Amino acid sequence: MKITYLGHASLHIEFSETSIIVDPFISGNPLAAHIDINNLQADYILVTHAHQDHILDVEAIAKNTGATIVSNYEIAMHYGAKDFNVFAMNHGGTYTTETFSAKYVNAIHTSSFPDGSYGGQPGGFVLTANGKSIYIAGDTALTYDMKLIPMQTKLDVAILPIGDTFTMGVEDAIIASDFVECGRVLGYHYDSFPPIAIDKEAAKIRFKEKAKSLVLLDIGKSLNV
Ligand code: NI
Ligand code: MN
Repeated sequence: MKITYLGHASLHIEFSETSIIVDPFISGNPLAAHIDINNLQADYILVTHAHQDHILDVEAIAKNTGATIVSNYEIAMHYGAKDFNVFAMNHGGTYTTETFSAKYVNAIHTSSFPDGSYGGQPGGFVLTANGKSIYIAGDTALTYDMKLIPMQTKLDVAILPIGDTFTMGVEDAIIASDFVECGRVLGYHYDSFPPIAIDKEAAKIRFKEKAKSLVLLDIGKSLNV
């Protein structure tokens, strides 16, 4: 699995000739100005919740690629009504294709569309492909529900928000990595706006002090799992 960081909470995940985009917020992110959404391949777009900083480029990418938008029922219906290909699910459900499975798991957050309309309940995904599993937490607080994940799935990487203010910060993300039993963390949802700016070196040191590794990718760079 090749995971490319597209800035903020946006990811491009590739394996077995399958291409997945997660929470595309690229054209509105000055830090990701070197990423052209028109060059992105996608068979699927996973959407954790309806906030603008997770859905901004969903429609443009779906139009370009014909990708299937996979999300909670309300978000899927929202895009289905606009004639996009969608797969609707809800917490606890798993979407299974020939090359991967994606389970929609709980997140503690909110989920309204930019116009204030209801975006269902927010979630994260446990994605499994080629014998590897990753947890894409979405925007979430630290929650005991994270302990359910390793009861069923041995994670290879946990992708956790670390920017604080709207989600967990670094200290809670360290505890989250204990809860999901995965010491290899890819941090996201930081530095895009002033309220979520972090000291990246200090964050890495804190993880190291707890015998964990925090990977922070430059935008456009990849991690292989
Ligand atoms: Ni959010
Ligand atoms: Mn967000």
